Amino acid sequence: MIKNIKGTKDLFPEVTCDIQDIEQHLNRFMHIHGYGEIRTPIFESTELFLRSVGEHTDIVNKEMYTWIDQNNHSLTLRPEMTASVVRAYIQKQLWKTEPISKFYYIGPSFRRERPQKGRLRQFHQFGIEALGSPYAEQDAEIISMAYNIYKMFGIENLTIKINSLGSDDVREKFSLELKKTLLKFKSIFNEAELIRLDKNPLRLLDSKNEKIQNILEKNAPNIFDYISKEDEKHFNHLTKILDSMNIPYIHDQKLVRGLDYYNRTVFEVISTDLGAQDALCGGGRYDNLIEQLGGDKMPAMGFAAGMERLMIAMKLNHEKTNYTDIYIINLEEQLIEHSMKLSDDIRKDLGVAVYTDLLRRSLKSQMRHANKMNAKFVIILDSETMKNKTVMIKNMDTKEQESISFNKIISYFESE
Ligand code: HAM
Repeated sequence: MIKNIKGTKDLFPEVTCDIQDIEQHLNRFMHIHGYGEIRTPIFESTELFLRSVGEHTDIVNKEMYTWIDQNNHSLTLRPEMTASVVRAYIQKQLWKTEPISKFYYIGPSFRRERPQKGRLRQFHQFGIEALGSPYAEQDAEIISMAYNIYKMFGIENLTIKINSLGSDDVREKFSLELKKTLLKFKSIFNEAELIRLDKNPLRLLDSKNEKIQNILEKNAPNIFDYISKEDEKHFNHLTKILDSMNIPYIHDQKLVRGLDYYNRTVFEVISTDLGAQDALCGGGRYDNLIEQLGGDKMPAMGFAAGMERLMIAMKLNHEKTNYTDIYIINLEEQLIEHSMKLSDDIRKDLGVAVYTDLLRRSLKSQMRHANKMNAKFVIILDSETMKNKTVMIKNMDTKEQESISFNKIISYFESE
């Protein structure tokens, strides 16, 4: 038997119903905040991710699904969407016509991580990117939107962690300092950790190795201590706006995030309901990325969130599947075609959900199915009553039954 690939999921209607619901809320939320949807391809040139996410990050080093196509072109399933949005923005040279571009997206991303609860190989992200503003107000808008999305879905126990990575050369200075500190303890590092220490010491900050975490706790410098006066002003302005918007946050001076393109503000929203994979979403400012990828120097800020993690935090029990408003029961096979026609008429006139049994089942099993589908009404087609052009309609809440003539069926439901 051929099975799905580890870390991917088949989503059946009981789950997709909930996802559609979430997406509708998100679409509306984004619309009222002035963000329009962007859809980019799910695969891109590998080079895009090397040059944005960063060559020495975990994502690029070991988690990308990459292949060489028939034209010898290296392609990659997107591990995240910011790079694609920036590529599309540059390709369209949008900064020439729009001082600010605000986009949101919802869709699958791919990372070859070890699957566990809240961590998949094909997962789904929604997120937003605002390209064009260098100001702290933009950071505040994005962080508050992330927070309000989780509030909209009724999620409690949220923590927003924010930090500043400063600009330009701060990461470099800090990396050097961190490397210097950690080199003193290099005897406890394994081979992979030593390579990280050499190539991208920042990645050791979220190492799973407890010994390294202990060393970091006691000895590591804070990136925040390296930022400039201007960076600090930006950060203080941001926290002032968040305070005035009543958005709670903690300043985590150790937060750096796992992608290379960030500068200044970074943030994550964490939920205690998620266990080990506790990040609901993460994001930050990337003021150099557009220029790095060939556009003009344009500042930008955004975040992305895991749909699966949102659903875990929402504690959904996926029970809304297969619901209908009206269930038409056929007592005899030859009535099925009438009920198909009647279903279509009701759907067209009233726009409600109508279900007709096409399995030629018994009255009893059709009734059982109507109950399972939570039908509000059942229409019974029976050749005896059809002779006088009437049908029986049962209100499943009140259990009352009424005989209704054919031409009154629509008006019966209109009045209900
Ligand atoms: P990220 O932190 O790599 O950032 O991913 C964002 C969110 O995607 C995570 O917080 C998590 O909820 C979800 N996620 C990531 N990997 C997985 C996985 N394997 N399984 C399930 N969920 C996952 C980014 O992707 C940046 N592009 C965010 C950003 C947008 N920064 C600026 N703009």
